[in-house]
Amino acid sequence: MKELDAPVMDDLWYKNAIIYCLDVEKYLDTDGDGVGDLPGLTERLDYLAGLGVTCVWLQPFYPSPNRDNGYDVSDYYGVHPKHGTLGVYVDFMNHAQQLGMRVIVDLVVSHTSDRHPWFQSARRSPDSPYRDWYVWSKTRPKNWNKGMVFPGVQKETWTLDPVAGEYYFHRFYRFQPDLDTHHPAVRREILRIIGFWLQLGVSGFRMDAVPFLIETKGAGVTPVKDFEMLHGMRTFLQWRRRDAILLAEANVPPDESMKYFGELGERLQMMLNFPVNQRLFYALATGDIKPLVRALEATRERPPAAQWVNFLRSHDELDLGRLTDAQRQRVFAAFAPSKEMQLYDRGIRRRLAPMLDNDRRRLELAFSLLFTLPGTPMLQYGDEIGLGDDLSLPERESARTPMQWSPDPNGGFSTAKKTVRPVISDPIYGYQRVNVDMQRRDPESLLNWMERKIRMRRECPEISWGNWRILDVDAPGVLAMHYHRAGRSLLVLHNFTPKPRVVHLRPSDLRARRLVDLLALNDSEADEAGRHTVRLQAYDYRWFRFREEARS
Ligand code: NOJ
Repeated sequence: MKELDAPVMDDLWYKNAIIYCLDVEKYLDTDGDGVGDLPGLTERLDYLAGLGVTCVWLQPFYPSPNRDNGYDVSDYYGVHPKHGTLGVYVDFMNHAQQLGMRVIVDLVVSHTSDRHPWFQSARRSPDSPYRDWYVWSKTRPKNWNKGMVFPGVQKETWTLDPVAGEYYFHRFYRFQPDLDTHHPAVRREILRIIGFWLQLGVSGFRMDAVPFLIETKGAGVTPVKDFEMLHGMRTFLQWRRRDAILLAEANVPPDESMKYFGELGERLQMMLNFPVNQRLFYALATGDIKPLVRALEATRERPPAAQWVNFLRSHDELDLGRLTDAQRQRVFAAFAPSKEMQLYDRGIRRRLAPMLDNDRRRLELAFSLLFTLPGTPMLQYGDEIGLGDDLSLPERESARTPMQWSPDPNGGFSTAKKTVRPVISDPIYGYQRVNVDMQRRDPESLLNWMERKIRMRRECPEISWGNWRILDVDAPGVLAMHYHRAGRSLLVLHNFTPKPRVVHLRPSDLRARRLVDLLALNDSEADEAGRHTVRLQAYDYRWFRFREEARS
């Protein structure tokens, strides 16, 4: 990647950001109705600032029947009354701004809720101005039961609407009719939605389901993706706010990613790195890092101002659909051995801590990787304290339980008798043991460990900005990465295996008299031949800066 000049580092704020994804509904309830709200989130922004988060990604908080966690929107220009009002939203934005924290919100416009007034009007009459905003067929299309995103749960992609007397297309659940995003009026409305939230201060959008958003839809239509649509959205976005960004949810093979970024970087600035995510879990499960190395190399190419977002778990299943069958089975065997832990024939519906057996060494390894793989890291709410999951909840809800703040009833999330989802109270991950209050006061807690790592990560912009290479070291299962930018270098080592490893670093690989350990008093001195020998314990990790370059 060609380096950009130093002065633009602050303009391209997203490159060295720490993103934290949360659902207002599950964060903190201040009015006692059992549902998280915006005043609650506003109150906890100080906590997030303390953790070192620089950008909050809010999952949908718009009016919605909430049958898909808010990804079924019934009004794009409002706040769900359970969370507050637009006025309270502005209070929240103001507090975030005062703390220097950016906010991005979900843009879910490939489909609406079937309760959306547009769909309600469209279904009632062929003459409705909204009829063509959706995708209809008078007869049942041949492929009516193909292309489901939620196999096993979703039965079809074309459903007969009894009111319209026609079939409508829905890529996701049947209560999420797809918008015809190639209709000029729909496109104009999408820009209006973008403009609305920008005007209220957001720094950008996480764009839902981008491959489906941009493809042509219809009975008998062979879908074609219109990537230039992304260019149009990006241009509009930056006319309205020059430093705003679009972050794509697009689980596509690496060789397609440049179409989303645009050859000249004229489309989306950021994409979630699904190829690396899947191979990272494969490496954590098996100690075999080769597929991960290949995924890193395959996602190396991107325009200079574009950026990958790395993540561990999200609010969805851990999607392993792009691994080979044999690889996926090995990840299942390690992290989701029983069927109830798996979902949609391709993924895992558990949180990170239970997948890793709550083993602190492996949790640290996973987070250390999150912070040091090339790109911007994204944390899922609750993972910073090792939140568990609740497999008795359906589908992906298992990993969407409320935040645990204290050992008080309902984990301090709410004073209500019944909460939006039950707070975890099992003997290992229950709020009585796993909560912010107790971890905050324990210097050795995962939370305080995380805060220190985030602080150090923010001081290592070469990870987000620099050139990198993978060193071929003599220790199997050890990933050694070297970052370099503007005269500063970083070496990071991760041992994916349960065995101690000795890593020899030859002067032909890197020249440094002294490697300064950034996380502990454990520097490495080169021997007379200029060689470093680093011993790693099981699941160990080290971050080194080259002495000649260390400022402190
Ligand atoms: C992707 C979101 O992450 C997921 O939670 C949702 O169900 C679908 N898009 C549909 O909006």
